[in-house]
Amino acid sequence: MIKKAIIPAAGFGTRGLPMTKVLPKEMLPIGGRPAIDYIVEEAVNAGIEQILMIVSRTKNLIVDYYDRSLELEAFLEQQNKEHLLDALKLPKVKIYYTRQLYPKGLGDAVSLAKEFVGNDPFAILLPDEIYLSNKENPLEELIDFYKNYEKNVIALQKVADKHLNSYGIVKVEKREKGRLYKIYDIVEKPQNNPPSNLAVTGRYILKPNIFSCLEKIKPGVGSEVQLTDAIKLMLQSEPAYGLEIASERFDIAKEAEYIKLVQKIYTLKHGEQGE
Ligand code: G1P
Repeated sequence: MIKKAIIPAAGFGTRGLPMTKVLPKEMLPIGGRPAIDYIVEEAVNAGIEQILMIVSRTKNLIVDYYDRSLELEAFLEQQNKEHLLDALKLPKVKIYYTRQLYPKGLGDAVSLAKEFVGNDPFAILLPDEIYLSNKENPLEELIDFYKNYEKNVIALQKVADKHLNSYGIVKVEKREKGRLYKIYDIVEKPQNNPPSNLAVTGRYILKPNIFSCLEKIKPGVGSEVQLTDAIKLMLQSEPAYGLEIASERFDIAKEAEYIKLVQKIYTLKHGEQGE
């Protein structure tokens, strides 16, 4: 039902400077793979068949990573190192790219996907946020919700009060059921009076109506076109729900969380006693 996803990966990655001046944060290594590959894997495992990556001028490494390297393949065959070819296998998904010409914000980046999306509901995965779980797949959970309710749905997690001003924060009332909330309002990076402690955490299933909302809104926080503001406008004409995600989440743009994730993945691969 949800077959298309957008991965906005055009930002400057200012929190990772100076490294991210040349190395996109999406390419930071985690367990021998670039961070973005965990996002692509989550999408593919959730049934996504087409991905549009929104990139910018300094993100060519992402495009290269999802391309074949014929000379490397030929070299490995010639050297009888065919066993290494497995590591070069590409994910089973069709990847398209477009460049965001001006750093005008997440909302602007998403608006570039209008033609790609067409008339179907679609997913957005923000590549900063990596969920670690060997059972649940956060995107799949949102898609399962959509299959049953056919309503916009956003991944939420509770965050500590001092971090509420770094996220989109939703206004909710009581739980609908389980981990599900109806969203009454949403505010981008509230500086005071956050409407709850539930933050938007980088996975969305939205209907294409969001594009007309994106066209109507003005730049918001940080003078950027905010996806949150378009969702707020959309709430006037159609409902959105939030699903609290149980899996552990790592914001790889925060050094401490990046290091923790690298350690966790290393342990998963090699065990506690790994060299
Ligand atoms: C973006 C969104 C914000 C969301 C966050 C999740 O902010 O604008 O609503 O909570 O991603 O990571 P950014 O982190 O790009 O500033």
